[in-house]
This record gives sequence, structure tokens and C-alpha cells, in this order.
Amino acid sequence: MIPSEPKAPSARIVLGVAGGIAAYKSVDLTRRLRDRGYFVSPVLTPDATRFVGAVTFSALASEPARTSLYADPTTPIPHTYLGQNADLIVVAPATAHVIARYAMGLADDLLMATLLASRAPVLLCPAMHTEMWEQPSVQENLATLRRRGVMVLGPDSGVLAGGDVGAGRMVEPSEIVDTVVSILEGHGGGLLAGRRVLITAGGTREAIDPVRVITNRSSGRQGYALAEVAARLGAEVTLVTTTTREIALDVRGRVDVVSVASAGEMADAVLSRSDASDVVVMAAAVSDFTVVPQPQKIKKDLGPPEISLVPTMDILSALGERRRAGQVIVGFAAETESVVERATEKRRRKNADLIVVNDVSADGVGFDHETNAVTMIFRDEPSVTVSLRSKEAVAYEILASVSSLLS
Ligand code: CTP
Repeated sequence: MIPSEPKAPSARIVLGVAGGIAAYKSVDLTRRLRDRGYFVSPVLTPDATRFVGAVTFSALASEPARTSLYADPTTPIPHTYLGQNADLIVVAPATAHVIARYAMGLADDLLMATLLASRAPVLLCPAMHTEMWEQPSVQENLATLRRRGVMVLGPDSGVLAGGDVGAGRMVEPSEIVDTVVSILEGHGGGLLAGRRVLITAGGTREAIDPVRVITNRSSGRQGYALAEVAARLGAEVTLVTTTTREIALDVRGRVDVVSVASAGEMADAVLSRSDASDVVVMAAAVSDFTVVPQPQKIKKDLGPPEISLVPTMDILSALGERRRAGQVIVGFAAETESVVERATEKRRRKNADLIVVNDVSADGVGFDHETNAVTMIFRDEPSVTVSLRSKEAVAYEILASVSSLLS
């Protein structure tokens, strides 16, 4: 759940620290959150104290670090005190073990009990070795938590403990603070507060006959992540989508979902709403061609059918042509070679303010993946590369850029 009122600094944050090497970065995170003016209550799991001493957190936080359900001199029930008073719970690092216990609803230490005894929004910042991160069990637990409205930031890719390189690095404390600020101060004063944002998601389906379609591998995940994050940043969001996915509970009421199938339906849905939108993000994989469908099912006895394709309207180009002053138009591109050059040319040709390009030949990027890595290509400014991370974290980066283009 996200607070409905803007929470100025002085909001109360429970900082959960689990037993991973990245716990040392959470010391810096504590200091940065305090510098921003938040009230920070650290809760360390017993394993976390093997990596960093509780006294280090106590020295930097707003009150002494807690490590146990039973040893709190101030209250016999610290988990309800902490859980009920929190405006936000941040778990950094969130280990595979914490993620699994939270998904199952276990309450076997102070951090888990606090998570369960709270209605505050929760931000998890996973950190673990790549093999652990890629385990289906870890990914399924995270998917379960996301469905319940838990926010997940990261992990990044990079050098891990022991010198291995891969996905699993906790995102940097500065980025966690930026996300905390947008969660706690987002509504009413958020980066996209008061803005109308129109987003498309999924691959279009062009009917060949009443049974068959031509489509593509887009899952719609990046578009849904954009819609959820835009809502968390305060926007009024319309999501025009070909795929049905669950919207996280905390923003379900603030994303208006319009279902379409074909490129033609998507064009109608987008162009009839674009004038009223401050931002349009074309994250959908729109078919470049459609078919004049056969009214009856094509029978195989007649031999291989001839299917003639006709071009669809390029929605992004149409938006580029009819843009109104101050409107920001964002397109996506999936490329496999000369990625930046082609996307730069596409941005110019389609008159978009920003093209977000992913190299779909790279590991973990684009279609069918939970993660993405993109380069953002702007009209006037130098391009920005966002390394491999969750589609939600990529969405934050894109929307933060959109907000600076708006201003
Ligand atoms: N797009 C669109 N309408 C179309 C096709 C694409 O709005 N009929 C949008 C997509 O939503 C995306 C961007 O354009 O934002 C992607 O362009 P793409 O299809 O890759 O560009 P093309 O110019 O068709 O080039 P390519 O040959 O690479 O497909």
C-alpha cells in the first residue's frame, strides 16, 4: 500500500538488513536516509550481524538497531510497534532466504514479524549470487510478492562477492534513496504528479481468419512496469494493452486498463486519447503489417494459403506528427545490430523525444525476460545507458528522464 498523502522527510523508515555481504552498503544507506531527514529504524536479521555490527547502524540511525523479537528494553512487542509506525519498509539487502520467508508469510525473526505486522509499502532490494538470483524458486517468490504490491528494486549486474561478474549486485545506496524519495514524496509532489500518462504494452495480434493470428513475442512486462511505476510517481495512467497481467495491488486503482488486440485497435485507442495526455510511451510491439482476414477458417485441403500483408499505421510516427506543445513522446526499439545508430535514426525519423532501445541479442534483455538493459536516446542530450536490472527499475530510469523532459 502506498500512502495517499505526500510524506515529507521525517517519515519513518524501517530499514531491514539481511545476512548478505551487501549489508555493508546499508550502513551508507542508513546515513543517506538520515541526511535526507527520514527517521530510520534499523532491524537486522541474526545473520546480518555476522556481516556488520548492530552498533554501526545504531550510531548512524535515528534509534538503536534491533536484532531480536525478545530483547527490546523499550517494548515487549517491537514488531507491531515498528510495523504499525512505519511509512515504508526497505529491505536492503534482501537475500533469497528473506524473500522466500516473506513470500510464505513466515514470522520467525524480528524483520519477518515486522513485515507481517505492517500495512506500510515495502521496497525490496535483492542481492545474491547470479545462480541464486536465477533460481526459479527465487523468481517465483518475487513474482508472488510483486503481485501483492511489494516493490522490487534491482538487482544490478556487476562484480559480486568473490570476484564473479553477473546479475545480483544490490543497487547503489544513492539509487535506493532516489526510489525511497519518489515512493514517500511521490504522491501530490511526485515526479509525475498531476500528469496524464498513456502507455502501450504487449504484442499486437493480427487475425488471419477467425482462429489464427500473426503476433510477436512481446510479454507486455516492460509496459506494465512503466504503468505501475508512473502511477507510483503520481501520474494518472492509461494502459492500452494486448496482454492481461495483474497490476500490483498498491496501484491497481490508479491504472485505467484498455484492452485491444490488433494494431488498428491500438491506433484508435491511442490516438483518441493522445491529445489529453502529457506523455505517451509506445512500449508495445506493434505489428508493422496486418492481414485482410478471411471470414471463415482457412482449410488445409486447399493447400498453403496466400496471405498478403498490408502495412499498419505507424502510431509512433502519427504521434510525432500531431504532438502538442509540451507533450513528451517516447518510443521503443528492439535491435540486434548497430543498436545505437539505428535507434538514433529511428528517433529522428519518427520525431520522438526519446527512444528506449534494447539490444535483444544480449542475455537477459527484452522479450520474455524479467530484466532489461536499455540505452535512452534523446533529441538534444547525450544518450544514457541503463545496465541490466528489473523492468521496474528500468521503468524508474525512463520515467525520471521523462519527468525532466516535461520540465
Ligand atoms: N510502432 C508504432 N506503430 C507501428 C509500429 C511500431 O507505434 N505500426 C512503435 C513501437 O511501439 C515502438 C517503435 O515504434 O515504440 C518501434 O519501432 P519499430 O517497429 O522497431 O520501427 P520500424 O521503423 O518499423 O523499424 P524496424 O524495421 O526495425 O521494425
